[in-house]
Formats: sequence, C-alpha cells, structure tokens
Amino acid sequence: MNKLSIEFSQKASAEQLLILAVTSQQEQNAEFKQQDKLRKGQLSQAIKDGMISSKRGKTHFVTRVNAKEPNLLLVGIGDQPLTLRHYRDVVEAAAAACQDIQINSIHCSLNQIPLNEVSSAQALVHASLSFQNSLYRYTDASRGKAAKDIAPMVDSLTFSLGELNEVEARAAVAQGQLTALGMATTRTLGNLPPNLLHPESLADHAKAMAKDHGLKCRILKRADMEKLGMGSLLAVAQGSSTSPRLIALEYKGGSGAPIALVGKGVTFDTGGISLKPGAGMDEMKFDMCGAATVIGVMQAIAELKLSINVVGVIPAVENMPAGNAARPGDVVTSMSGQTIEILNTDAEGRLILCDALTWTQREYQPKQIIDMATLTGACIIALGNHTSGLMGNDDTLQHSLKLAGETSYDRVWRLPLFDEYDEQLKSNFADMGNIGGREAGTITAACFLKRFIENDTPWAHLDIAGTAWVSGAKKGATGRPVPLLVQYLIDQANT
Ligand code: BES
Ligand code: MN
Ligand code: ZN
Repeated sequence: MNKLSIEFSQKASAEQLLILAVTSQQEQNAEFKQQDKLRKGQLSQAIKDGMISSKRGKTHFVTRVNAKEPNLLLVGIGDQPLTLRHYRDVVEAAAAACQDIQINSIHCSLNQIPLNEVSSAQALVHASLSFQNSLYRYTDASRGKAAKDIAPMVDSLTFSLGELNEVEARAAVAQGQLTALGMATTRTLGNLPPNLLHPESLADHAKAMAKDHGLKCRILKRADMEKLGMGSLLAVAQGSSTSPRLIALEYKGGSGAPIALVGKGVTFDTGGISLKPGAGMDEMKFDMCGAATVIGVMQAIAELKLSINVVGVIPAVENMPAGNAARPGDVVTSMSGQTIEILNTDAEGRLILCDALTWTQREYQPKQIIDMATLTGACIIALGNHTSGLMGNDDTLQHSLKLAGETSYDRVWRLPLFDEYDEQLKSNFADMGNIGGREAGTITAACFLKRFIENDTPWAHLDIAGTAWVSGAKKGATGRPVPLLVQYLIDQANT
C-alpha cells in the first residue's frame, strides 16, 4: 500500500479535489458559502431542491466553476456538532467516494467540522487514519485474476491546520497514518490463505517486518520449546506438519521494564480431534489475528519512535487433527509446571498462550502484559462485532485500555473474573481442565490464562473473536485492535 503524502494548506489548489461538508442546518460553513457564491447560489439552491443531500454520509461530486478553482466533493454531515462515531462515518464516506475518481490530490476540510467532545488533534488522527486505510487492498501473488483490481489513484492529501499548530498537527497525522499502515500489515497477514501463512511463514513475515522497521526479532523452534518444557503449546502443534514457532519482537525506545504484548497465532484452527463443523471453517485462517495485531502494532510504534520499551510475543501453531494429534483427555505439563487436562482440543488458544505468557514473564520481567486473542465464540455472542472483550487482574490497566478504546474508537468492554468462574476449570486428573463448560466461556478462558500470571504482574486480556475480522460480502481482517493498542502505548509513552 502506498503511503499518502499528507501536508497542510489553508485552501485547496485548482488541481485538487476539495472536500466540503454540507450540514442540514440553516447556516453552511464559510468555505461552502464561498463556493456557493462563485456559483451564484446554485449549491444552496440544489440543497433546497433536494438535489444535494445533507444527510450524513451522502456524497456528491460538483464540477469546478473555472480552471482556477478546485472540483468539489460535497459530503452530507447532518446536524452539527458531530459525535466521534458520526464524524468517522462522514470521513469514511468521503474517502470511499475518492476511490472511484481520477484525481490524485485532495484537500480535506472535514477536520474543521464542529465536533462533540472530540479534540482537533483527535479529529485529524481519525481523518488521516481513514484516508490511509481507504487505500488498503489485499494484494498477493496468490490473488491471481482478482489482482487486476485497479490500484487507488489518490496519493496526496492536504488538511487545513485550523486551531492546531504544525507540530501538533504533524503528530496527529503521524499517529493516524502509521496506525493505518500497521493495520494494513495486520490485515494482510490475517487475509493470507492458511496454506501460505503457517507458523514458519508467519515467523518469516515477522522477521521481515523487524528488518524493515529496525526491530530485533528472535525465533524459537520446536527443539527450543521442548527444552523449555512448553508441553501445552507443543501439544497443540503436534498434529500439524508445519512446526511451531515462538516469535519475539523487541522495540527499545526508552528505559525500564517493557510492556509485553502477546498475540494468539493459530494460523488455522480446525478444532483438532474435537473437529469444528465444516461451514465457515475457512474463517479459522483468521485465528492468528492476535499475532498479526502484535506485528502491526510493533511496526507502528517503531515508526512513531515512541519513548517506551515494548516486546511482542507470538506463539504460532496450526491446530490440526491427525494420528499424532492431542486427544481429549490428554494431560500435559505447561512450562509453568502446572498440569492441564485437554478436555477439548478446540480450546487450543489458551493452551499456546499459557506457555507464551510464562516464557514472556521469565524472559523479560515485563511491567505489564496485554494479550490479544480470537479466543472464544462466546465473546461474539456477548459483545457482537463492535466491541472487544476486556478482562484482567488490574483496574488501572483496564481503565486505561478502556479510555484508549474510546479515543481510538476501537472499543472494549469489561467482563468480570470473579473466583467463582475460575472454579469451573476444576479437573479430576490435572491442576485444571482447558474448558469451563458452556456458561461464561469468555470469562473461564480468561480465568485459565490468569493462572499463568506470576507475581501479580498487571495483565489484561483482549478477546477479539468478534472484532478482528468481518464475515459476509466484505469478508476480511479489520486491523483491530491495532488502533486501540497504538493509542494505549502513546498514552503510556506520554505519562
Ligand atoms: N478460535 C476459536 C474461537 C472462535 C470461534 C473465534 C469462532 C471466532 C469465531 C477458539 O479456538 C475456539 O475454538 N474456542 C472454543 C472454545 C470452547 C471449545 C471452550 C469456542 O469458542 O467454541
Ligand atoms: Mn479452537
Ligand atoms: Zn482458535
């Protein structure tokens, strides 16, 4: 994906497309009035006649009056001031409309719309993110005929500074744009087919990203994991003919203990011997979106040069049924020494995450751990596709994540980890079972992970089963929760 050139200017030049807001209220903004005047009131007349809609998200192209003026894209915004949600809808509609035209430079004044409880800087972050993200296309050699999709035309964008100074504005643009580029990496990894994206190639992608963006990358193979006693992770991997990897990406921009991000990297989840039903199973290629998020976030923070230390850890496996696959009833010993009865081989995410969590803590002594995983179907039942599940052992950490989710509009909602839920993990044959029954499946999965957190290290778990990809006609990885985590890490770097 090409990186947009984003600059600032007070007005559009004649070669640009000028994006203007149209409100449903009486008084239009000054820029609109100016263009209306040049057209002797035709624009306002067209609104009155219902030819141009001021409804939120409606777009209309209007040809320039003469060669000294820009062409226009009018975007309906409804009533002002806009909430963050509605503002994002407007910007996304404008960016989408620009995909179909033959103009490569745009001047966007939408960041000047009156907003409700959204700062000017935040508005610019979201606008830059949306425009850059609108250029995302899944392209890969494997795409064959479909790769002929036209590449987007837009390559440069200017914003009006408004009340921001240039330093503030550049920081906001960098956040939005680098977040979108991180999301693009996450989306492509998620979208890649599972025959091409397996644990070994995922490690190669991580290594390549690290090289391109100046990060350190370590990769552990099966023999290393055997030495470390990762019996739980290895049990999931044992039925697959591609061998597992444990990937660590290190970013050093500050001093002190790092924040650790740990992402579930199941490159394909068949369920194993507890086989999943066939319908929609292709979507289990997205079961590595936690891992892809770690890679996208590490890329973004390296580019943003945050003054903070972060380590990203990815356990990567493929969950397959086979003659040598783990069975329901198998008992394994995790790296922590705790034993686990595998009652369902389809609850494999927690089995790889627990060893990754133990390794991360012993290796890096992180000051905080945030894991992200497409962990439970139950989370989709609880929160749908709009909100990620948030659980953990530390109120402050969870509160900060919740706020970062609101700022980035990549929202999370808390579920409780009361002791009573943990009791559902009891096993007659090991320290714990790997499932806790049908009830509160998202919570019992988190209770399982919590048992592997040592010394009360602040830890948060994000269940992204409902948010990491969309199904249906627009099937594909979303790049969430990259915006949430980049915002959180920026907030941490600034405190
Ligand atoms: N990767 C799945 C969770 C999932 C399912 C995410 C559907 C998104 C859509 C996970 O490995 C899994 O299979 N979880 C089981 C756990 C159960 C066996 C306790 C589930 O949710 O059914
Ligand atoms: Mn599973
Ligand atoms: Zn899974």
